[in-house]
Amino acid sequence: MTDDELLARADAVAERAYAPYSKFYVGAALLTRDGRAIEGVNVENAAYPLGTCAERNVLSRAVTEGFGPGELEAIAITASPCGGCRQWLHEFRLDRVIFRKGSGEVVTRTPDELLPESFDL
Ligand code: THU
Repeated sequence: MTDDELLARADAVAERAYAPYSKFYVGAALLTRDGRAIEGVNVENAAYPLGTCAERNVLSRAVTEGFGPGELEAIAITASPCGGCRQWLHEFRLDRVIFRKGSGEVVTRTPDELLPESFDL
């Protein structure tokens, strides 16, 4: 699957986001090293801080399916990842992160570029 196709998956799944409060619909699609695609969306809650981002939801889904750090090749996101999600992306050692910036431009970055001097235990 190409990066463009992965982003198209993220765009398509964003329609399923549960975002009645912000109305900001985010989709994320992961590509596993064995060629599978796993999708996720943001899920909000009336108690606002309990909402979860599309990136964290899709990574949790991947872990549930048996994938861990080093086993995920790329992620495509319909928006620029927030600070907390950048730490999650760092944890899973993806090769590349493809996302659409607020300006509409699509860029590809490494997790290290997105979160320099990141925290490790
Ligand atoms: N959101 C994400 O899903 N991912 C990000 O990296 C940025 C923010 C969601 C959270 C919330 O549901 C909505 O976008 C507005 O902040």
